[in-house]
Amino acid sequence: MRVSVVGTGYLGATHAACMAELGFEVLGLDIDQAKIDALTRGELPFHEPGLPELLRKHVQSGRLRFTTSYEEVGAWADVHFIGVGTPQKPGESAADLRYVDAAVRSLAEHITRDAVIVGKSTVPVGTAARLKDLLASTRQAAGLPGTVELAWNPEFLREGYAVKDTLTPDRLVVGVESAHAEDLLREVYAKPLAEGTPWIATDFETAELVKVAANAFLATKISFINAFSEITEQVGGDIGTLADAIGHDPRIGRKFLNAGVGFGGGCLPKDIRALQARVSELGLDRTMRFLAEMDDINLRRRDRVVDLAVQVLSHSLHGSVRVAGADGAGSVPSPAAVEILNGAKIAILGVTFKPNSDDVRDSPALDVANRLYTAGADVAVYDPKGNANAAQRFPRLGYVNTLAKAVIGADLLILLTEWDEFRQMDPEDIGRLMDRRTLIDARNVLDPASWHAAGFTHAALGHRFAPDSSG
Ligand code: UDX
Repeated sequence: MRVSVVGTGYLGATHAACMAELGFEVLGLDIDQAKIDALTRGELPFHEPGLPELLRKHVQSGRLRFTTSYEEVGAWADVHFIGVGTPQKPGESAADLRYVDAAVRSLAEHITRDAVIVGKSTVPVGTAARLKDLLASTRQAAGLPGTVELAWNPEFLREGYAVKDTLTPDRLVVGVESAHAEDLLREVYAKPLAEGTPWIATDFETAELVKVAANAFLATKISFINAFSEITEQVGGDIGTLADAIGHDPRIGRKFLNAGVGFGGGCLPKDIRALQARVSELGLDRTMRFLAEMDDINLRRRDRVVDLAVQVLSHSLHGSVRVAGADGAGSVPSPAAVEILNGAKIAILGVTFKPNSDDVRDSPALDVANRLYTAGADVAVYDPKGNANAAQRFPRLGYVNTLAKAVIGADLLILLTEWDEFRQMDPEDIGRLMDRRTLIDARNVLDPASWHAAGFTHAALGHRFAPDSSG
């Protein structure tokens, strides 16, 4: 079987390399010549553990090739996966479908044999049905040989685990309208199916909704625990213990209950917004209204870190705790907060939206770093993989290339992305380099006792800041 993958970004490049690993001849297509040239040289334009090795292996063997020509893939492949982006429209909540539409149209205009087009991109419900009509009308106008059918096969890969999630997925979901399309996709995924991966063959609408439902559920879980953080920050209590205790109930589960600065990245934030926009279009305005609340809870965590930075600094510099805004929240720090932040040296540890990725899209960490910088703080930013992407978005922040350089002379350290390098920090070593032993753990991964023992004032999200009892 010959497989083409249209779009060689995060999803497409991973899918192409993994299809080659499953034993197929693969042709990856992108309209960006520079991207195609890099991939042809075996170079990956983003960080993803395990993927560079797979790419090089199959480029070298000749099983994986890249092109910019729709004509070439149209004459060659039996199955065409679409892995182009569906970003949030600028200034709107809805998804921008122009790349998916263009991919389907271009394939329809160039396929010259029997084939199945399989959408993998995350799309609003109803898109596949619309694209089916677009495919039919474009094929009719083009008058080319061959029967071309559409299927939808949502992708659930996580950044940092993309190869594993593609080769050994939790489940395979396909929206199909014929036994032929289902059989062909069963053949594509024969290996994971033989290993016992659950197979769910359904209609277009269900397949589209499964993806957004999964992401909306995950976002809700994170915001749920972060809402409880707002309570424990006020009344006391331990958010981690609370999560452990409810997580023991198998109906709830412990995963995605890590309280912290919240979710970001290229999927969760835009998918919950696109879902709200889509259901409003359908006249179901109230149905997903709770997701607006989840989004708000998530964004308020960033305000909370800025507020906590003001409290910790004012305690450490002036011996008193001052609160940033009248209500302790609000994306614009109050004049009193700006006065405290102005000139304060803050080490920012982490700017990616999560560890093991260089992705800074909608990153809570980078947003917090930029807010502190905008309020006048002197920030030294260090991320093991994310500095270059962050510098493209916010070039004026101070970037450094080691952890030690970030913390030297700092008044405050803020851990925003839980890279292993930060989890493993030695409190004494770090304390010796800093001007003041103060830290905010915005991911709840450091052991408060060992940092207290080294003389640190330790603050964390989901915990009441009580400097007098914390040393
Ligand atoms: C997500 C989905 O998990 C994946 O199935 C889908 O295909 C794409 O979107 P990804 O964006 O790679 O994957 O990130 P994920 O691991 O889900 O984390 C999302 C965000 O939530 C990160 O910013 C992470 O730091 C945050 N998070 C996660 C928490 O704040 N707390 C948690 O308990 C878990």
